Amino acid sequence: MSTDTDHAAATAIPSPAPAPAAKRGVADPDEAREFLAGFHRETAAAGRGEEAFEARWREVRTQIDRSGTYTHTLDELTWGARVAWRNSARCIGRLYWNSLHIRDRRGMFRVGDVAAECVEHLRSTWRGGRIRPTITVFAPDTPDQAGPRIWNEQLVRYAGYVMPDGTRVGDGRTSGITTYARSLGWRGPGGRFDVLPLIVEHERDGVRWFPLPRNAVHEVPITHPEYPQVAELDLRWHAVPAIANMRLEIGGVTYGAAPFNGWYMQTEIGARNLVDADRYDVLPDLARLLGLDTSSERTLWRDRALVELNRAVLHSFDTAGAAITDHHTESERFLRHLGREEDAGRGCPADWSWIVPPVSGGLTPVYHRYYDAYDEAELRPAFVLDDEAVQRARGETPVREG
Ligand code: ARG
Repeated sequence: MSTDTDHAAATAIPSPAPAPAAKRGVADPDEAREFLAGFHRETAAAGRGEEAFEARWREVRTQIDRSGTYTHTLDELTWGARVAWRNSARCIGRLYWNSLHIRDRRGMFRVGDVAAECVEHLRSTWRGGRIRPTITVFAPDTPDQAGPRIWNEQLVRYAGYVMPDGTRVGDGRTSGITTYARSLGWRGPGGRFDVLPLIVEHERDGVRWFPLPRNAVHEVPITHPEYPQVAELDLRWHAVPAIANMRLEIGGVTYGAAPFNGWYMQTEIGARNLVDADRYDVLPDLARLLGLDTSSERTLWRDRALVELNRAVLHSFDTAGAAITDHHTESERFLRHLGREEDAGRGCPADWSWIVPPVSGGLTPVYHRYYDAYDEAELRPAFVLDDEAVQRARGETPVREG
């Protein structure tokens, strides 16, 4: 799963959810109750039946009456974060939702602490290449104090520069936040794969930027198993996709900073990041290196180059010992996930236009079916992309109300 503009083929891109209508940091008791009921229902085997629910609900109700919000137990937070993943309709990789590893950092909100823990997140998820799906949860919004926010779309992203003559260098997707980072004082070296600094905000500290230490960022140079000339393109990608700017909403509580990661599926890199015309746009150069006939679209040179690039990405990650999946394996796993959810008596929200891979869609079983309709606004717990995060990722400074 990811952010709103990632999927060009989405027919109806849901607009980013508006900020919660209620006052910031105030937990809605109905949402709290519904969440607790779900938690106790689904985890009843752990001794959390009806009675336990009633007792816990009374406690939470009192906390909300007194302070406007309440504190999740670690078990509630863990289940809530996992179900937020399970509810992510755009994510094909949800079979392992129940094993998401939680780093509980709810005591932290100062920007320096947040940045340092993001670095630790990247280090600890890596495990020598056996990447473990991980989320780090920072302080939530409360009526007294808003929680911290991270304005980068992901913990690791490459800068995108627009040169004075209009030519672009780097990732076209990040030109907004790159400009923003530079306006804060970051010196972008001007390369194609410069790792952006983290940009973190909290009302106590304001907005600050923090460079990521090199050894926290694992990168994979792209080579091809049969065509050595592919290395000449000098391509690389970071091994860990870690979404950083979505709010985690659990039972009426908003965690504005809760970066999470899984591992990559090669199409994300080999069919989108390196390929989209407004990003690295490498297919024309690759086709030339491969000696393909580019004189007409009907030679299908784009398609042929695309497949070879995807092979190269898988080969490179394998060579580097970095976990990565492919679209055939993941499609099958997703259908297994659907089956399991059905067995558990649940529906599974799924967005066809995001689930179907951007390479060889029709070769995968996820293409040949539809998915139940769902209401995004109703799905909770959830990861939510809000207006402010979208604007900040574009490098805009939104006007805040109140
Ligand atoms: N598509 C995004 C990217 O290419 C990453 C989204 C999350 N992907 C994942 N495999 N967990 O960076």
